[in-house]
Amino acid sequence: MAFSSSSNPEELTFPEGFGWGASTAAYQVEGGWDADGKGPNVWDTFTHQGGDRVFRNQTADVACGSYTLWEEDLKCIKQLGLTHYRFSLSWSRLLPDGTTGFINQKGNCFLKIEGIDYYNKMIDDLLANGVIPIVTLYHFDLPQHLEDQGGWKTGAIVEVFDAYAQFCFGTFGDRVKLWITINEPNVLAVLAYEKGLFPPGVPNLGTGAYQTAHNMIKAHAKAWHSYDSLFRKKQNGQVSIALFSPWVEPSNPTSIADQEAAKRVMTMALDSFAKPIFIDGDYPAELKSRVAAMSKKQGYPSSRLPEFTEEEKKMIKGSADFFVIHYYTSALAQHQENSGGELNILKDIEVEIFPDPSWQVSHPGSWVRVVPWGLRKLLKYIKDTYNNPVIYITENGFPQGDPAPLDDTRRWEYFRQTIQELYKAIHLDKVNLQLYCVWSLLDNFEWTEGYSFKFGLYQVDFENPALPRVPYKSAMEYAKVIQNNGIKGSL
Ligand code: BGC
Repeated sequence: MAFSSSSNPEELTFPEGFGWGASTAAYQVEGGWDADGKGPNVWDTFTHQGGDRVFRNQTADVACGSYTLWEEDLKCIKQLGLTHYRFSLSWSRLLPDGTTGFINQKGNCFLKIEGIDYYNKMIDDLLANGVIPIVTLYHFDLPQHLEDQGGWKTGAIVEVFDAYAQFCFGTFGDRVKLWITINEPNVLAVLAYEKGLFPPGVPNLGTGAYQTAHNMIKAHAKAWHSYDSLFRKKQNGQVSIALFSPWVEPSNPTSIADQEAAKRVMTMALDSFAKPIFIDGDYPAELKSRVAAMSKKQGYPSSRLPEFTEEEKKMIKGSADFFVIHYYTSALAQHQENSGGELNILKDIEVEIFPDPSWQVSHPGSWVRVVPWGLRKLLKYIKDTYNNPVIYITENGFPQGDPAPLDDTRRWEYFRQTIQELYKAIHLDKVNLQLYCVWSLLDNFEWTEGYSFKFGLYQVDFENPALPRVPYKSAMEYAKVIQNNGIKGSL
């Protein structure tokens, strides 16, 4: 089709075979928190402790009930016509204490069978309906037993995660060909282990995020190598890690200091994970020198950012088969000299970030500012920084508040504009984007926001014990996009 600047909408058709999906995560939708021998995870513990850390002390004990209502989810997936469905495995549903000890133990195998069968059925049903499963091994729900042993703070978890990954590849990999090891280690490290907002709920300012991210990167790389050496030949699948990133612009576009500050946020948020994995096995030099200098100034004997050994660098470099990005919103950055006080990672890079006040919020009280064009810029950044990789977007979404209208016209306008930006990224910027997934299939348990943020394409009535799923207008519109492999729009 011809590109024109006219505002008359035209058919923007995506490349043949482009993937259209939706995503969920085990803890956010499954419920059945202690069903059939499932072990507790850190979110079970955290929500059961109360303490007003989660909206109205809500829990995901029941959530969307997907553990028993999978058939209902499948109906939604079929109604949308998704080509891909991304979900995560509940680690402690498969391995109640997080280790492979149980499944190796004869006579105790009833514990494994229930969890395995649940996911087997999901995978088989998806494939029978022509839907490709994308499976995340770990989406924030660490088995409590592992947390009790130090969790991501200890190096020992690298081996434990690898054993779990091998167990999953071996059990499901005959049918699952797209794997994501860890969901958003960059978000988890900060929210859980730096700020203590997510379980285990203990802040470790200045050190927690670096320490745990370091172990997550190693765990991912080790699992990728296990797949590569033990499973790839036979199973012929691909493995990656999902990274979250905002798009960041300088607050004052003509200020060199702000331009550099914006770059530093991208370095911290995205490159500190993507560079080791996709380029050379190591953290960005600027990050290393800044954290080292700041740590020295603060009297630490060594940098608060741990170092990879040469052997680890070799293991980490090149340990992903495609690039997975999650995008929700954008921010502005300003240089801000570190004048002491509380430690945090933005202070380490001497930046302050905030939204442009002209960007609308998705709903009052939401952290999501509506910036569809930020995604195109982010995709171009990934293309230019990481040698034009194959990119999958496995999360992008727009929350509504409670109550959320079924006629979510404003939200669909966000998705429509976003899809239009994706089209531009592919056709004008030549980005190798091959898949887009909406977060989320269903309204679900939105972590510390409980059920007050509604990200679903389908509304779930949490007051009704049957937990009925009803499509928002966005679901109907998205189904049309999928059917046409494109959208009406203008460039
Ligand atoms: C997470 C999801 C979450 C979504 C919306 C992502 O960071 O992977 O679990 O629900 O953002 O906040």
